[in-house]
Amino acid sequence: MTVLVLDFGSQVTQLIARRVREAGVYCEIVPYNKADEALAKKPRAIILSGGPASVTESDTPRAPQAVFEMGVPVLGICYGEMTMVAQLGGRVEAGHAREFGRADIHVQRPSRLLEGLAESGSEPVWMSHGDKIVAIPDGFSVVATSQGSPYAAIADERRRFYGVQFHPEVAHTPRGVTILANFVRNIAGIEPEWNMHAFRAAMVERIRKQVGKAKVICGLSGGVDSSVAAVLIHEAIGDQLTCIFVDTGLMRTGEADEVVNLFRDHYNIPLIHAEAADMFLGRLKGVSDPEQKRKIIGAAFIDVFDRESQKVGGAEFLAQGTLYPDVIESISATGGPSVTIKSHHNVGGLPAYMKMKLVEPLRELFKDEVRVLGRELGLPPAFVGRHPFPGPGLAIRIPGEITPEKLEILRQADVVYLDEIRKAGLYDQIWQAFAVLLPVRTVGVMGDGRTYDHVCALRAVTSSDGMTADYYPFEHRFLGRVSTRIVNEVKGINRVVYDVTSKPPGTIEWE
Ligand code: XMP
Repeated sequence: MTVLVLDFGSQVTQLIARRVREAGVYCEIVPYNKADEALAKKPRAIILSGGPASVTESDTPRAPQAVFEMGVPVLGICYGEMTMVAQLGGRVEAGHAREFGRADIHVQRPSRLLEGLAESGSEPVWMSHGDKIVAIPDGFSVVATSQGSPYAAIADERRRFYGVQFHPEVAHTPRGVTILANFVRNIAGIEPEWNMHAFRAAMVERIRKQVGKAKVICGLSGGVDSSVAAVLIHEAIGDQLTCIFVDTGLMRTGEADEVVNLFRDHYNIPLIHAEAADMFLGRLKGVSDPEQKRKIIGAAFIDVFDRESQKVGGAEFLAQGTLYPDVIESISATGGPSVTIKSHHNVGGLPAYMKMKLVEPLRELFKDEVRVLGRELGLPPAFVGRHPFPGPGLAIRIPGEITPEKLEILRQADVVYLDEIRKAGLYDQIWQAFAVLLPVRTVGVMGDGRTYDHVCALRAVTSSDGMTADYYPFEHRFLGRVSTRIVNEVKGINRVVYDVTSKPPGTIEWE
């Protein structure tokens, strides 16, 4: 173990790990209240994450006291700083004015933490905190202030304890990586030896250890994630792995063939093609609530996997390409206290009765890291660059009840939209683009006749990790072209709109 991050439930805790990895240093996250084993492995530096609680209330999380007695550097971020101050004898009060968003910190004294930053005396950062420090513990001094925080950064250089009220891990703190690199490399003295090659080797070992001689089945969805997971697991355990592609009836045009061909052409991984469209669509009949859809789909997948696992002689493990953003928005990543946004089918959507244990080698990674790993594993570049496609498929792109007719209309619209995006050379600039079929009909006129048909919404976003996103600024002429083609070519749609919502406050998928 090199760096340990203790999670207090912030939505962005995993970004800390990711930035530390960007600095070339390996890092693990564990919940603050399940840290004994990780602490026993003697981490060389500890980071305390942010979190939604207030240290001024009783029964809110605290770091294990051992953290401050191990002689290793500690960095407290936001809530992590507050609890460090409170636990080491300083004073924290509930803030009257909560401070969120962009702020400038002004350096008051040199510190190794801010080395190479704030050349002009100040540095832009992203603040997000509610509590307020009123007295810092003995040994600490103020390194930087901001307009709203007299203790924006504090340090006890002798003990190597640091606290920041802002979030160095988010992209809105432009040089946050430098702060974290200063901490793990210069202050903790850890050599930058971590990279995707090392991750691959470590993960292969971890998978072998977890699985032993047991059989594993892996649900292939056609996306990059499950494919990368399958190839990695195959490298670890060879023919103990069988892949299953479930045709849910919720796939896009040509999807099933593409996946089956890729795995048959490129890899010698045994693949079962399970036809389950009737089952999925049957169970979804009459259902329009998004969370209910997700739960039904999660359960249907598991039923298919259970059934198919019997055919391979009983698999003990189910492998999935779950990524960190799927985890953080469904349940807390580490069992810590963060809030559910939606139950991703492979995380919060899994039924409690599932018998198989999970193997999820990508659970700590973000999409762009998975793409790097995919290239490292030799997957074809065009495949690695594919837009994400969610496990619940088109079901979450048809708000309201799903019917075979609506699915067919949506498939056709999606093909036209993506065809135009590819022709315009925009595919690789966009994180994800897709059509959504709305449960409303509007009046139109085509030729001399009146139409009364569905509305199709187009979505395209840029993003680096799916956690935050911006709508893609297509030229109007492009949108006009797509709209004309969809209305002319797809029977059942007579109106096209473009979604210009970012995430937050929207999410990428509509459900
Ligand atoms: P949202 O809609 O939460 O999507 O902003 C973020 C990213 O996750 C994908 N997504 C899913 N992927 N299972 C998946 O494998 C799911 O249940 C699921 N729901 C959303 C979404 O397409 C986007 O890339």
